[in-house]
Amino acid sequence: MQSDYQAEGSSSSDSSSSRELEKYLRDQWIVNTESWINKEQSVRTGFLDAWMLRALGDVEGRRVLDIGCGEGRFCRLLAGLGAEVTGIDLTEGLVEHARALSEGAGTYLAGNAHDLAGVEDESFDLAVSYIVMVDLFDYREAIRSAYRVLKRDGRFIVCNIHPMRMAKVNGWIRQGNRKLFYAVDDYTSEGPRLEEISWTGKAFTSMHRTLSSYITAFLESGFVLEGLQEPTPSPTQLAEHPTFDDEYRVPNFIIYELRKP
Ligand SMILES: C[S@@+](CC[C@H](N)C(=O)[O-])C[C@H]1O[C@@H](n2cnc3c(N)ncnc32)[C@H](O)[C@@H]1O
Repeated sequence: MQSDYQAEGSSSSDSSSSRELEKYLRDQWIVNTESWINKEQSVRTGFLDAWMLRALGDVEGRRVLDIGCGEGRFCRLLAGLGAEVTGIDLTEGLVEHARALSEGAGTYLAGNAHDLAGVEDESFDLAVSYIVMVDLFDYREAIRSAYRVLKRDGRFIVCNIHPMRMAKVNGWIRQGNRKLFYAVDDYTSEGPRLEEISWTGKAFTSMHRTLSSYITAFLESGFVLEGLQEPTPSPTQLAEHPTFDDEYRVPNFIIYELRKP
């Protein structure tokens, strides 16, 4: 595997370069499996989980599919709240880890969010995508698949990196240690974004799409958009994690609340 995927010149519609990008996105998760398992997750546990749980509502007794479940942390949380959880993820090492930690609560499948092959039509009450869309080569296909597996009236809760923050990664413009503002650039140019020093300590590539592209894809799949959140930390969360103060300046995350009518 190459050490990074260059965004420049990689947005060609040529199918071999598309396949190369799709493989690159998949392989970088295989390479970073251990890093993800060991990653500190306070942004989720100390901030976003509360927003996700609020958006999901009561999960007790509900069939929930966590698409791109990683090592299963959020599945375990939902199972603890009484949900009947299935986690699916493309990275087999993460699925194995999720199974090992599940203590029998929940089902874990190795599979692609693009097609959700093997997941029955109209079989889930709720579907979750917790910061996964930016990792997907074909977000439209994945959204259509989520729609397919939800029951009528089922809801799809999608948390993603905010498109304003994905357009230009590491966009803080600083004066010394002071963050002056976050630069948004090349917003309409969709495609891979290379973060040279990412959470892995090395390069990592994620996908940027505009807000209108995501919303259009949700609506074209048949979803109704019921809510849109740009999460900010509560005063208690901020007191516990003072570094989350940036979240009031430019949203880092976005949550789409969707329903299959
Ligand atoms: C940022 S992690 C999020 C994991 C989990 N949702 C969480 O919040 O802890 C992104 C996850 O998406 C998975 N992933 C990437 N591409 C995928 C695909 N095409 N289908 C299913 N999972 C995918 C990766 O293996 C990784 O576990």
